[in-house]
Amino acid sequence: MYEALEEVRACALNCHKCVLGKTRNNLVFSDGIPNSKLMLIGEAPGYNEDMQGKPFVGRAGQLLDKIFESVGLSREKDVYICNTVKCRPPENRDPLPEEKAACRSFLDKQIEILKPRLILLCGKVALTSFLPDLTVGITKVRGQWFDGPYGSKMMPIFHPSYLLRNPSHNPGSPKALMWEDIKKIKQAYEALNK
Ligand code: URA
Repeated sequence: MYEALEEVRACALNCHKCVLGKTRNNLVFSDGIPNSKLMLIGEAPGYNEDMQGKPFVGRAGQLLDKIFESVGLSREKDVYICNTVKCRPPENRDPLPEEKAACRSFLDKQIEILKPRLILLCGKVALTSFLPDLTVGITKVRGQWFDGPYGSKMMPIFHPSYLLRNPSHNPGSPKALMWEDIKKIKQAYEALNK
């Protein structure tokens, strides 16, 4: 599995299918454990990720780690983390459809190799990449399980950057809803090991 992922990473490193490869500092391929039953797919690398070559290492990433830790999960032992695109879009804009399309084969390979049982679609870019026919936004579908590739279950969740912009903990707030979702995720993850 490790070798297969390394091969995909090597291909991504040499990829020039879109313009993002020209402006990025580092390829941001993945972090976390590769044999995980749990995969999180984010949007795209930001400044810190581009500088360090790892996904979710800035403020949003620190919050994501705290969310996982709140239910005893961690990227060191439970989660494989990657993004819909592997190179940073300039000025942190959303990746363009052609950039997502150019990068899609790498993401599909990561999924094919790992065959995660649970996939978290973190934010609207990841959501629309996998459930493009939905007519409602992430607020309506977060916390629900959908059928995913290779018999997996996929759950859309709020992006931690959105939670940073909405800090309230009141009932019904994005942070309160995220707390419900992460508990559901932990339950499903534990059920896999029974
Ligand atoms: N936001 C993302 O969606 N991915 C990252 O890697 C960092 C921030």
